[in-house]
Amino acid sequence: MNDAVDRGIVGSTPRAISRRAFIKGVIAGGLGVSAAGYLFRTPSLFARSAEVGERLVSINVNGVNRHADVMKQETLAWTLRHKLGLTGTKLGCDRAECGSCTVLIDGVPRYACSVLTHSVRDRKILTIEGLENPDGTLHPMQQGVVDEQGLQCAFCMPGFIMSALGFLKFNPNPTRGQLAQGVSGNLCRCQDYDKILTALMRGAEYMRNANHA
Ligand code: FES
Ligand code: FES
Repeated sequence: MNDAVDRGIVGSTPRAISRRAFIKGVIAGGLGVSAAGYLFRTPSLFARSAEVGERLVSINVNGVNRHADVMKQETLAWTLRHKLGLTGTKLGCDRAECGSCTVLIDGVPRYACSVLTHSVRDRKILTIEGLENPDGTLHPMQQGVVDEQGLQCAFCMPGFIMSALGFLKFNPNPTRGQLAQGVSGNLCRCQDYDKILTALMRGAEYMRNANHA
């Protein structure tokens, strides 16, 4: 019997009553904790909706204001590719080493994988998709690359083109060596550098002929 009481099987002894009271207390306490959790969750829901509001950004891409829900830590390359569908910007290393993701921000070549989207809300972003003319004809640089068949797999091509355009703004008539220096932040995994340079030089020539900035 004592054994049964000790194990709480018999409920008429002071020990059994205190055990029941203890269990009730735990349940009541648990309810209290749950209720507290519910009450404290209310302000955090407000905080969360405020956060969602902050995440809605408007960025100017290729002359058009685009809207997207952007996480604080999200890179421009990710937003362009996965939120805006602009997959011409390639992701190679995703850590500022290969240049595949190069876009122009206010005319300056930048690695989109290393720029936070929230930091470019007021800037003008140009990607490879924004180069084509409204009538569908190619930008002279794109035409130069096509004419020279300057690349193998072409994964690196958008990045090289955007880097070259950024460099040509400051030096529109470069020597081959100068242009090589200008795009030295870009890597080609097919190691087709000689043809790439020939193509970019051809594009630069087409741009000069067309008085294209
Ligand atoms: S993907 Fe951005 S530098 Fe390589
Ligand atoms: S042509 Fe293939 S990565 Fe450059």
